[in-house]
Amino acid sequence: MCGIVGYIGDRKAFPILVNGLKRLEYRGYDSSGVALAQDGEIAVYKKQGMVVAMEEHALANNTSGSTGIAHTRWATHGQPSDENAHPHVSNSGNLVLVHNGIIENYQSLKDLLKGKGYTFHSETDTEVLVNFIEYVQKEEGCKLRKAVRLALTQVIGAYAVCIYDKNRPEEIVVAKLGSPLVIGLGVNEKFVGSDATPFLEYTKDAIYLEDGEMACLTAEGEVSIRMIESDVSVDPTIHALQMDLESIEKGGYDYFMMKEIYEQPRAIYDTFRGRLLPEQGMIKMSGLEEYADKFRNADRIIMTACGTSWHSALVAEYLFEEFARIPVEVEYGSEFRYRNPIIRKNDIVIAISQSGETADTLAAIKMAKAAGAMVFGICNVPGSTISRETHAGAYTHAGPEIGVASTKAFTSQVTVLTMMALELGKIRGEFSTSEYRALINELSVIPKKVEKVLESKEHIEKISGLYKDASNALYLGRGVNFPIALEGALKLKEISYIHAEGYPAAEMKHGPIALIDENMPVVVVAPNNGHYEKLVSNVQEVKAREGKVIAIVTEGDTEVINSADHVIEIPETLEALTPLLTVIPLQLLSYYIAVMRGCDVDRPRNLAKSVTVE
Ligand code: F6R
Repeated sequence: MCGIVGYIGDRKAFPILVNGLKRLEYRGYDSSGVALAQDGEIAVYKKQGMVVAMEEHALANNTSGSTGIAHTRWATHGQPSDENAHPHVSNSGNLVLVHNGIIENYQSLKDLLKGKGYTFHSETDTEVLVNFIEYVQKEEGCKLRKAVRLALTQVIGAYAVCIYDKNRPEEIVVAKLGSPLVIGLGVNEKFVGSDATPFLEYTKDAIYLEDGEMACLTAEGEVSIRMIESDVSVDPTIHALQMDLESIEKGGYDYFMMKEIYEQPRAIYDTFRGRLLPEQGMIKMSGLEEYADKFRNADRIIMTACGTSWHSALVAEYLFEEFARIPVEVEYGSEFRYRNPIIRKNDIVIAISQSGETADTLAAIKMAKAAGAMVFGICNVPGSTISRETHAGAYTHAGPEIGVASTKAFTSQVTVLTMMALELGKIRGEFSTSEYRALINELSVIPKKVEKVLESKEHIEKISGLYKDASNALYLGRGVNFPIALEGALKLKEISYIHAEGYPAAEMKHGPIALIDENMPVVVVAPNNGHYEKLVSNVQEVKAREGKVIAIVTEGDTEVINSADHVIEIPETLEALTPLLTVIPLQLLSYYIAVMRGCDVDRPRNLAKSVTVE
C-alpha cells in the first residue's frame, strides 16, 4: 500500500524517482507525486491517477534537482485527489515528506496542531505527520533527524517515511515501523525504495531498515542507523541483491499477469530446484531440517495468511493431514490476530505471504511468537519483513510478482507446501518409501505438465469470449481442489469485477443451486481423482438447471465431457498435485475475460499488491 522512492546524489533525481514509482505502482496507483530540491525551494508535482499523468505534468516544469522524494498512493485517509497525493509540505514550507502506512492517532495530533495555528490542505494523516515533525523541531530547536525521532516516538501506527528540509537538501531522513523501506548504496549516491526495484540498475548493495529504525542519508557519507525509541546506534547489514532488471520487465507480454502465468513452469522448477532430489529419492529443505525435532513432535500446525496465500494454505491443509497426519488449522491473519487463540507449546505456526509484508499476517506472526510458538515463514520476497520476523522458513523462488493478481506466487507456495507435507510425512514415519518416491518423481515433472496446460491458451480464450458479459459465476471443487475453486473465483472477481463464488461442490445443494439458470457459468474443477464420480453428478445437477458448465478435466475424461458445455484438459497426475495444474486454466480464464472487458489486469481498481495496512 503506497510506494515511496528517494534519491540523493549527483544525478538528476526526477527520472530515477519516476522510473522507481512506475515499478512500485503495484503498491497503489490512485495518485502520485514528487518533490525535488531545486534553487533553494521545494518543487512539488502531484497528480491524481497513474504515474504517467504526474510525469507529464512535471516535465512541463523544472525538474532539475538532484535530491528528491516521491510517492505512489493507495488511499487510506482521504479519497484519491491531487490535494491528498503525497509529498506533503509543512506549513513553513521547509519540510517535505512521503509516507507509506497509517498514523492511527493522527486526529489527536491534528487537533493539537490546529490549536497551535497549523492549517491543513488535505485530508491525509501524512500532512499531519509532516507538520507534527515541524512543530517538534520548533519546540526543541533541534536538527531534522532529532525532530523526526522525537515526533515518531509520539506516533501510533505504521510508517515508512522519507523526509528532507529545503534548507538542508544534502540530507534525507528515513524511518520505518511496520511498512517496508530499503536503502540502496551507490557510489556517491543513495536510493530509497519500498522495495529494491527502483534502484536495481544502479546498485546491488542494499540495507533493509528494520522496524523501529531510522537513518540519515547523504550522497557520500556512511549510512548511520539509530533506533527511534532509544537513539542507540545500530550497525547496518548490507545485503547483495539477487534480482535482475529483466525479471521486473514485461518481456513482450501485454500484462505482467500473463508473463507471470507463463513463468509458472520456471517458477515451480526454481522453487524445488536443489530441494527436490528425485535421483536420490529425497527432499532437502534447510529451514525444515533445522527444526526437524519440533516438526516431528508437533501436535498441530496453524497456517495463517491472507487472500490467495490463504488459499495455498487450504491446499496444504489437505496435504499435511494426508501425508504427515498432523492436524492443521488454517486462519486468516486478520481473524487470528484479533482472537484469543489457544496456542500450545507443541504447535507450529506457518505464515504464508508472497510479499512478506502483509500487515495482518505479520501481526498474526508477532502474536504467535509472543505466545511462544515456533513460526515458519513462506515468502517470495527475500529480505521482506515476514521473512525476517519468522524463526525459520523457506522462500518460494517465483521471482518478482508484479501483477496485482497473484499467479506464480500461488503455485510456488503450493510447491513449497507440498514438499513440506511430503518431508514431514517422512520425518514422522507416516508413509511408505514407494509412495514418497512416486510423489517426488511426479512433482519433478509438474513444470512440463504446466507447460502442456498453457498450450490450451487459445481454447480458453475462446471460452472466455462466450462468458465475458456474465454478471456472476460459480466455481465448484472437492477435496484438494476446493481451494482451487476459491482461488478461481477470487481471480475472476478481482481483475474482471464479475461477482464469483467458490464452493465445495457438495455445498451447492445447500443454497447456491438456487442461483443457477441459463445465464450462470459454473466452473467445475473435476480432475480424474477420488472425487470424480461425485463431481460427475454435480455437473449433471447444474445442467439439469440449464447452467453452463466449464469443466477442468483430466485428459481422456469419459464422463464429464458428455454433459459439460466446455472442457479444458490437464495432463494426468497424482491427486495431491492436481492443484498445480487445475489452477492454470482458471488464471487464464480470468485473465482473458478481464482483458475482453477492458479492465487493467495488472492494476485492478481499489487493490494494491502489498497490503501493509490492516
Ligand atoms: C490475490 C492476491 C491477494 C494476496 C493477499 C496476500 O490475487 O494477490 O489476495 O494474496 O493480499 O498477500 P501476500 O501473499 O503478499 O501476503
